[in-house]
Amino acid sequence: MGIIIKGTGSYVPEKILTNKDLEAMVDTNDEWITTRTGIKERHIASAEQATSDLAYQAALKALAAANITAEDLDVIIIATVTPDKFFPNTACFLQQKLGAKNAFCFDIEAACSGLLYSLEVANSLLSANKKYKNALVIGAEKLSCITNWEDRNTCVLFGDGAGAVVLGKDDNFDYNSVVATDLHADGTYTDLLQIPAGGSRTPQTAETLAQGMQYTHMQGREVFKLAVGGMVGASKKVLEDANLEASQLKKFIPHQANLRIIEAVAQRLDVDDDLVYKNVFRYGNTSASSIGLCLDELNSAGELKRGDYVLLTAFGSGLTWGAVLLKW
Ligand code: UT7
Repeated sequence: MGIIIKGTGSYVPEKILTNKDLEAMVDTNDEWITTRTGIKERHIASAEQATSDLAYQAALKALAAANITAEDLDVIIIATVTPDKFFPNTACFLQQKLGAKNAFCFDIEAACSGLLYSLEVANSLLSANKKYKNALVIGAEKLSCITNWEDRNTCVLFGDGAGAVVLGKDDNFDYNSVVATDLHADGTYTDLLQIPAGGSRTPQTAETLAQGMQYTHMQGREVFKLAVGGMVGASKKVLEDANLEASQLKKFIPHQANLRIIEAVAQRLDVDDDLVYKNVFRYGNTSASSIGLCLDELNSAGELKRGDYVLLTAFGSGLTWGAVLLKW
């Protein structure tokens, strides 16, 4: 029996914010954003939509694609840095909406690497315990609510969305979709990408709010350099562990933060440009959602066939990073 990807789903909110729109909000321009990041537009959730609402839409699609019901789920994992509330966890809100009453539920916070961490955890749970059959893993983010719309260094980068994967046991397969993983963290870099206030270290006060410490702060150039090395190293490791060459991949899906990072990683790995999946133009950086959005776009377009190898790699706050090699 294999543990395979049974279905995928994704969702982005209707509202589109273009680079032109941003020109009216901060001192920026389409040319700067396009050449430095590759981003042309991003989707922004409505005031009424929380992260679990975005996750819900992606989950419905993934469950339908997997041909299972919400009650068939044994576990729900949501990867997010923008939970509906501090607690309860966002997966519990989603469970209630789905009616997934048989699932246990928790969130994983590993920023942009969240979906990769979640795939590893879900696969391990299914492998370790024979009573678990199906796991729903979702990267979901409403980054617009932690973005300082007056800070041009960050507000042009981020967007909202959700990407879901159903991982489950299936008698018709004799392999596991999660073939190899290489996950990392380095807590010496916690300052590089963070929300400075609002947690137990620095609770929110009128002063922290006035200083914008409730929003995402990033030292972009430093993160950029570390991101390329981190994703290249992890990607090489999983290819090596699986005894595969980059040319044997059907697709390479790097975290969609910046087109220049994506191209630098692909070049160093010697992956042909036509194997590299890119949608950063349309969504910006959606953190934990990014890879799930890519996977579902490819899968929904019929581009992934059983047996295809797909390499995922991500990098984010923590710092966290890693790579997961999937066999579709
Ligand atoms: O998803 C988690 C991981 N995150 C990432 O991987 C993001 C990594 N970092 C990056 O993608 C890039 O570093 C950025 C896109 C954030 C920035 O690009 P950069 O080429 O590293 O630019 P920079 O930070 O070195 O800034 C260059 C200049 C600065 O002006 P001065 O100091 O040279 O005069 C900025 O003030 O560009 C200026 N700038 C802008 N100008 C117009 C910064 N943001 C903007 C803007 N519009 N939106």
